[in-house]
Amino acid sequence: MNVLVTGGAGFIGSHLVDELVKLGNSVTIADNLSTGKKENINSSCSFKKIDIRSSGMEKLFKKRKFESVFHLAAQMDVRKSVEDPLYDADVNISGGINLLENSRKYGVKNFIFSSSGGVMYGECPETLPDEERYPDPLCPYGNSKLAFEFYLNTYRYLYSMKTSALRFANVYGPRQDAYGEAGVVAIFAGSMLSGKDVRIFGDGNQLRDYVYVRDVIKGCISAIDSPCGVCNIGTGESKSVNELFYLMKNKTGYDKQPVYEPARPGELQASRMNVQKAASVLGWKAQAGFEEGVSKTLEWFEKKGMK
Ligand SMILES: NC(=O)c1ccc[n+]([C@@H]2O[C@H](COP(=O)([O-])OP(=O)(O)OC[C@H]3O[C@@H](n4cnc5c(N)ncnc54)[C@H](O)[C@@H]3O)[C@@H](O)[C@H]2O)c1
Repeated sequence: MNVLVTGGAGFIGSHLVDELVKLGNSVTIADNLSTGKKENINSSCSFKKIDIRSSGMEKLFKKRKFESVFHLAAQMDVRKSVEDPLYDADVNISGGINLLENSRKYGVKNFIFSSSGGVMYGECPETLPDEERYPDPLCPYGNSKLAFEFYLNTYRYLYSMKTSALRFANVYGPRQDAYGEAGVVAIFAGSMLSGKDVRIFGDGNQLRDYVYVRDVIKGCISAIDSPCGVCNIGTGESKSVNELFYLMKNKTGYDKQPVYEPARPGELQASRMNVQKAASVLGWKAQAGFEEGVSKTLEWFEKKGMK
């Protein structure tokens, strides 16, 4: 199958490309390398350095006749979205519409979008929110993800395009940026393996659903045959930041205690999700246990070597 992966030089996108290539697909990456890395790019695919907002995207669609599009390119920094909501909307909404329009014109059958559960549901102290929960994004990034989900619904309605918006939980694994603003597993790995202080904002009791990247990729691929509308992709379980810290401390032999700093304004105390729809519609369930996923991630960072 002829497939386009936007954001295919990034953390999650590059794993998806690797798997699609392994399954025998002909894969094209469109990525402007704003946060993606050349070293992540699979050498068996075709890579185009391009912005998803650009008019040059049309040429690519026209030439390659994609059957499926996996749209992962995004402005995904929550704080940046607060500082510059216009830029966030430009990339995440206008850039996405550019892809949808080209998909419509050039006969794409399947459009699969990486949405976010973390920014969609707000605080979830007791119940695990399912896809029916009324979305309540509290930052521009969440709004732009939600707005694009609505565009997907519209394209499904108007043009019978098969669409899936997969709402990822907190994804972690090899290739995540240890020096970025998001991705606490990677940030802790980077600090612990280089002997630096690990900072925890707030009391460390914040709950998150951590899902291993390999599982997320399997979820994405199952959406090709089972377009699902909107679907949560997580483990359905949650761990605190403190639990994560001590698990990683034990595994690495890190000998310091965390440095607790004031909570960041707007940070959620509990961000979790119900994953029953993924099981029933996609036939998908996360396989990697928390300890297994964290160990594999640490192995990768150790091999890579931290500065
Ligand atoms: N990492 C997570 O925990 C998580 C959680 C929920 C949703 N997501 C979503 O998954 C997707 C991938 O996230 P990631 O963690 O791999 O991030 P990433 O930053 O590693 O990947 C994003 C990729 O998009 C590219 N990109 C950004 N703007 C672009 C533009 N205008 N044109 C072309 N390419 C552009 C970047 O260069 C990068 O390669 C994003 O859509 C993100 O919102 C991630």
